[in-house]
Amino acid sequence: MIPTQSQHKDTSLTLINILIALLRAYIYSIPNSLLYFVPHVVSKSSTKALLGYSAGLRGTTVCIQQRSNSRAFSTTPDRKLRDFFPVKETEHIRQTLPAWPHHGYTEQEMLDVVPDHRPPQTTGEWVAWKFMRFCRWGMDFSTGMQKEQKVDKANPTTAVTALKPLTEAQWMIRFLFLESIAGVPGMVAGMLRHLHSIRRLKRDNGWIETLLEESYNERMHLLTFMKMCEPGWFMKSFIVVAQGVYFNSLFLSYLISPKITHRFVGYLEEEAVHTYTMCIKQIDEGQLPKWTDPNFKIPEIAVKYWQMPEGKRSMRDLIMYIRADEACHRGVNHTLSNLNQKDDPNPFVSEYKSGRAPPRPAIRPQGYERAEVM
Ligand SMILES: [Fe+2]
Ligand SMILES: [Fe+2]
Repeated sequence: MIPTQSQHKDTSLTLINILIALLRAYIYSIPNSLLYFVPHVVSKSSTKALLGYSAGLRGTTVCIQQRSNSRAFSTTPDRKLRDFFPVKETEHIRQTLPAWPHHGYTEQEMLDVVPDHRPPQTTGEWVAWKFMRFCRWGMDFSTGMQKEQKVDKANPTTAVTALKPLTEAQWMIRFLFLESIAGVPGMVAGMLRHLHSIRRLKRDNGWIETLLEESYNERMHLLTFMKMCEPGWFMKSFIVVAQGVYFNSLFLSYLISPKITHRFVGYLEEEAVHTYTMCIKQIDEGQLPKWTDPNFKIPEIAVKYWQMPEGKRSMRDLIMYIRADEACHRGVNHTLSNLNQKDDPNPFVSEYKSGRAPPRPAIRPQGYERAEVM
């Protein structure tokens, strides 16, 4: 019997749906991810035909396992869980402390952080902003975000209300993607300024250390999340490829226009603050029960790095610290973009003639204008 035109269309649609579902399943690299993601792209009836059961039965992607007195959150199946970067035991070393100890925050400083957006003022900034919008779309797609989980399109970096929360697993994937690329710009900018300084025999005026410290801080965010969730092989490969592309693009972009690159990083950090603010809101609304479970423990590496006090070590507390860090990066990069790249000193490590306190980037979401800090 010759298939009708609508049967042809159905078959090709089903094949496309299978391919998309497989791609997403590999990103998560977990056995039941097909169940989780198929509903976004295939109707319930066609899913049933594909898998033998209805996609309405959404499998969770999260497992919590009790190991060595600590509870770990993971998207990895139980049998594969392992501490994949354990502390190296040696004969003489007791512990290795962070080379850049965290300066800490007061509770008020963390509460004062708000999502915000600095509107682009030049064509270059507009291009950087639009490119960031594209990256955010990619991030939403990779996280498997549904329409109801997204915020108001007109205010993408300030609106935090969505009809439906993300799951803990979706947040974790988002954090991992975000943090794996967030550690690149500071290192590229710091490296290029360092090379410039020793090549041209010129002072740098304090920028390099702040930039390198930023990338160190981002790596601590990533390591913290990696202690809770080991990505699958597909995501690991994706991170490798993304780093290659991102590093080289930023390298070129920083050589061409450090001003626009800092602005772009400012926009990236706006997204980070937005992501963590949404997560805190959903924790407060009780929509992420695995993270509000009193037995849920955050990794030791985070407690030590942020010197988190006893009784202030919940997942919410951790996200509050990380969000404050992102707010600092946002204020720092928007400010650096406003400065003369060649010879202005770094205001954040400067002492002022009037004795005034150094600028506080976390509470200046759009950064300081040059006249305010020079
Ligand atoms: Fe970060
Ligand atoms: Fe950041």
